[in-house]
Amino acid sequence: MKITVIGTGNMGSAFAKQLSSVGHTVRITGRNIDKASALADQYANVTAYAASEALGDSDVVVLATAYDDAVTALNSLGDLSGKVVIDITNPLSADYMSLTVGHVTSASEEIARAVPHASVVKAFNTLFAQVLAEGSRFANDQRGSVFVASDSERAKQTAIALAHSLGWNTVDAGGLVNARYLEPLAGLNIYLGYGAGLGTSIAPAWLSK
Ligand SMILES: NC(=O)c1ccc[n+]([C@@H]2O[C@H](COP(=O)([O-])OP(=O)(O)OC[C@H]3O[C@@H](n4cnc5c(N)ncnc54)[C@H](OP(=O)(O)O)[C@@H]3O)[C@@H](O)[C@H]2O)c1
Repeated sequence: MKITVIGTGNMGSAFAKQLSSVGHTVRITGRNIDKASALADQYANVTAYAASEALGDSDVVVLATAYDDAVTALNSLGDLSGKVVIDITNPLSADYMSLTVGHVTSASEEIARAVPHASVVKAFNTLFAQVLAEGSRFANDQRGSVFVASDSERAKQTAIALAHSLGWNTVDAGGLVNARYLEPLAGLNIYLGYGAGLGTSIAPAWLSK
């Protein structure tokens, strides 16, 4: 796949590493082009671009900025018509211990409203950056889950294909409205990781009998 990653922090770096490792073509950008270039230098098939050049022929955008920066960051890419935007954000408070939106909307729904010509899909938001960077395998041969929610079947299938390419199981979590559940799920994961001291090698998964 041809993928633009916007954001060069914890999650952007983890995506660059993992997407490169399975041969995706990655264009990476951020506010600081030097950080983007330093990442691109580390991984095959990853090239750094200024925001205005970063979309290129990518089919998919991985949104790896803070929620508060998301719309500005997406708009800096230019025309998103027809693009699939994978929204990994969680609308966290400054201390990371609560969400700033929820119940009656979600980060994903607000972002989708702000970029109406793109197809937004919630995914990967329940994985710590460390977990994403290390890959889909957990103890006892368990494989982790990526929860995917979107109103666009094409966007959902794109996110599912991308997650599978990286070795993750996927859980179809329904329409974008269900980002209202996935963002609190990430909040619980953050509490367990940091508040309860379980660390950042954990992730939620769904089981069936
Ligand atoms: N960290 C995790 O474990 C984790 C797990 C799941 C989901 N998430 C979500 O993933 C998102 C990213 O988290 P993170 O930990 O990677 O954050 P981070 O380390 O702070 O990285 C955010 C990146 O976004 C860039 N950015 C901000 N505004 C921008 C703009 N207008 N244009 C381009 N780039 C811009 C920042 O640039 P600068 O370097 O210039 O500041 C930085 O590179 C957040 O929404 C978070 O809730 C994080």
